[in-house]
Amino acid sequence: MNMQMKKPLYEALMEHVNKRPVSFHVPGHKYGFIEQSDANHYFEQILKIDATELSGLDDLHSPEGAIFEAERLLADLYHTKKSFFLVNGSTVGNLAMIMATCTEGSIVLVQRNCHKSVLNGLRLARVRPIFLEPEYNHDWKVAVGVSTETVKQAINRYPDAKAVIVTYPNYYGMTYDLESIIHLAHLQDIPVLVDEAHGPHFIVGKPFPASSLALGADMVIHSAHKTLPAMTMGSFLHINSDLINEANVKEYLGMLQSSSPSYPIMASLDIARNYAATYEQKDLSFLLSEINDFKESLLEIPAIKVLDFPNCQGDHLKVTIQSRCELSGFELQQRFEEMGIYTELADPFNVLFILPLLKEGEHYPLEETAVKISKALSGLATQVEREEVHLESQGIAELAIPYHKMETFAVREVPIDEAVGLICAESLIPYPPGIPLLLKGEQVTKEKQQELNRLVRSGARFQGGSSLKKDLIKVFVLG
Ligand SMILES: Cc1ncc(COP(=O)(O)O)c(C=O)c1O
Repeated sequence: MNMQMKKPLYEALMEHVNKRPVSFHVPGHKYGFIEQSDANHYFEQILKIDATELSGLDDLHSPEGAIFEAERLLADLYHTKKSFFLVNGSTVGNLAMIMATCTEGSIVLVQRNCHKSVLNGLRLARVRPIFLEPEYNHDWKVAVGVSTETVKQAINRYPDAKAVIVTYPNYYGMTYDLESIIHLAHLQDIPVLVDEAHGPHFIVGKPFPASSLALGADMVIHSAHKTLPAMTMGSFLHINSDLINEANVKEYLGMLQSSSPSYPIMASLDIARNYAATYEQKDLSFLLSEINDFKESLLEIPAIKVLDFPNCQGDHLKVTIQSRCELSGFELQQRFEEMGIYTELADPFNVLFILPLLKEGEHYPLEETAVKISKALSGLATQVEREEVHLESQGIAELAIPYHKMETFAVREVPIDEAVGLICAESLIPYPPGIPLLLKGEQVTKEKQQELNRLVRSGARFQGGSSLKKDLIKVFVLG
């Protein structure tokens, strides 16, 4: 029997449920016996498997039974040295990955447009981050990944770096030459940590991009819940090389994850692994044909463009459309929501759809969706140009003050015009392109202040910067 057909944790849970257990243990709902409210109808079934570390159900933090088996099957599928189930998303994966690899003061080369959990990990580990500017795609109007040249320059400048941290693919499913970056880093024995939150399904094969694990990345996180059929917060962490200290990773996961991990989430990870492992060529052909039909239908709508991945390299589960009419991406998204169509994200130009990893014969209302979109957008004038955000490239940049010092300074708000020369106490990320203009701890230069003013005046959207609308930014009070 193909071992990947098994679902050890899910099966152990089923066996437990079938014993009709009488609970004198946590959790307090007693397998759903205690009526919660009228919401019980929704929770009823899931609470039956919301168990805890009982005989036969193993322990995530010290696995020897069903969870050990389930994680071993995960490692076999992704061909890793060791793989872990995570119950607090890729967020905890990024934290553990960084804290297990770096110590206080370690130089870390990190892609500037990384997820906030990476920034938080850098801060918790009190490392010395060196931020690498990503490339910008003018057709898509979003940031992608770092170029090999940028990484090469950074490694030449900082050969003692303790890690390179990159995000692959970006949110929109765009990829870049990660293999060359890994090769460069490995010439100096620097481990490459990859936030592959959006790529756990790459394992199903071409034309999906190669998984960073197959490209030789040393440690990788996957949000299984994003594109595999796992419950929200279910993620994987993989160790793929001897450059990583497995005991350290285990120790940090033990510190950062709950001592009462959710069995429904863990069982859904077991199911998601099994789903990916049993994905066949016929499923892939079916899926690609469904995606193609969906895109073909969207292509007939004059008010939007369907974006193509550069060199056809990208994640086919992601379909990005760009406005060619008077509506911004946000307004398009709102129109779709009025018709019951909920998309993953919008930016001023684009709307991103994440499609399901269908198996052969599974019907998802893609055609119906395209018809609704066509109706919603009929009669709109096309070819409206929208102003793009142009940011000066920041190249390779360092913080002006280290993390441990930041904690000792008070914070105040000052008018943007008076901030030149001061140290920013918040991260300001115009979206898109999603490349931070200022990170917490960076100095506000004259150029950045001017750029910030320009962006604020043009109505750009920011992540961070709660007082920007009042023309104020937070800065550290030094000395
Ligand atoms: C690139 C990236 N990394 C990490 C995360 C965090 O993942 P999770 O939601 O699984 O904690 C996200 C979430 O959106 C993400 O987009």
